[in-house]
Amino acid sequence: MSQFPSSRPRRLRSSRAVRRLVTETRLDPAGLVLPMFVREGIDQPQPITSMPGVLQHTRDSLKRAAVEAVEAGVGGIMLFGVPAERDATGSAAVREDGVLNVAIADVVAEVGEQTVVMSDGCLDEFTDHGHCGVLDERGGVDNDETLKVYADMAVAQAAAGAHMVGPSGMMDGQIGVMREALDAAGHQDVSLIAYTAKYASALYGPFREAVDSKLKGDRRTYQQDPANAREALRELELDVAEGADIVMVKPASTYLDVIRDVREATHLPVAAYQVSGEYSMIEAAAANGWLDRERLVDEQLMAIARAGASIILTYFAVEVAQRLQDS
Ligand code: PBG
Repeated sequence: MSQFPSSRPRRLRSSRAVRRLVTETRLDPAGLVLPMFVREGIDQPQPITSMPGVLQHTRDSLKRAAVEAVEAGVGGIMLFGVPAERDATGSAAVREDGVLNVAIADVVAEVGEQTVVMSDGCLDEFTDHGHCGVLDERGGVDNDETLKVYADMAVAQAAAGAHMVGPSGMMDGQIGVMREALDAAGHQDVSLIAYTAKYASALYGPFREAVDSKLKGDRRTYQQDPANAREALRELELDVAEGADIVMVKPASTYLDVIRDVREATHLPVAAYQVSGEYSMIEAAAANGWLDRERLVDEQLMAIARAGASIILTYFAVEVAQRLQDS
């Protein structure tokens, strides 16, 4: 008769080598995407106080940092622009000489052969009121007027060379309108990475500093209520029907259930965005010596991958990619 306990799961945890062999989830630099900020009108990169280690880049420092990221092996770069001047309709977003569009062209020229260059297809960085769209006479965000600008923005970014456009504004119909506009302009090969389930989250706080956002109030009339998971699947159906190539959940670590639901409901690649506040919480706790920073970064990214995201947007992308290459 065999001794108790008859089954010993600890055997497969007994050495680093065996743990490595039986691991169910592996992080891969190729699935990591680095979000980057480029700011108009500065001649030195600027630190972002609430995101230690993350910079607002000049056009030149952006190119150098993009090369560094590609050398570390990241799978992609997501670009955000911070314009010097803003207006009610975010017109710098659609101008060829707008900061994001020139930066896309710079980065594509530098590393466009080796990595996927993505761009933020949203107006909030460009509007003087900080909302993700244009406003109606009562101060609400006008969905359909915004879509017209999004269409032009997608085409401007594709013309600058972006491989993928990421509409993050949560307007109804944004994927369909952008797909149609891109196709009509001959950009059939430019993909859409859809922010499918984007929640109205306090975790975007540090990002507002990163893009010098003018927003007063919140985005609850267009971003999703954190209480709702089924609603994400409704958004998923719409984005798939409208032509999304990749679907994304954002933020990541507080919405692991949604990542899992989306993974199970679609055959498209699923991405998740570990947002600014998720980054800052880790940095702040680590700076106080309260947590082991590297272990926590790995554990968080592993959880996001385990939930079902094969693509992770993270401000830790370069550091983690380097570490994975060295291990
Ligand atoms: C909107 C946008 C935001 C983020 C990405 N795209 C801010 C918002 O919705 O308020 C947040 C990303 C982050 O917090 O890291 N253009």
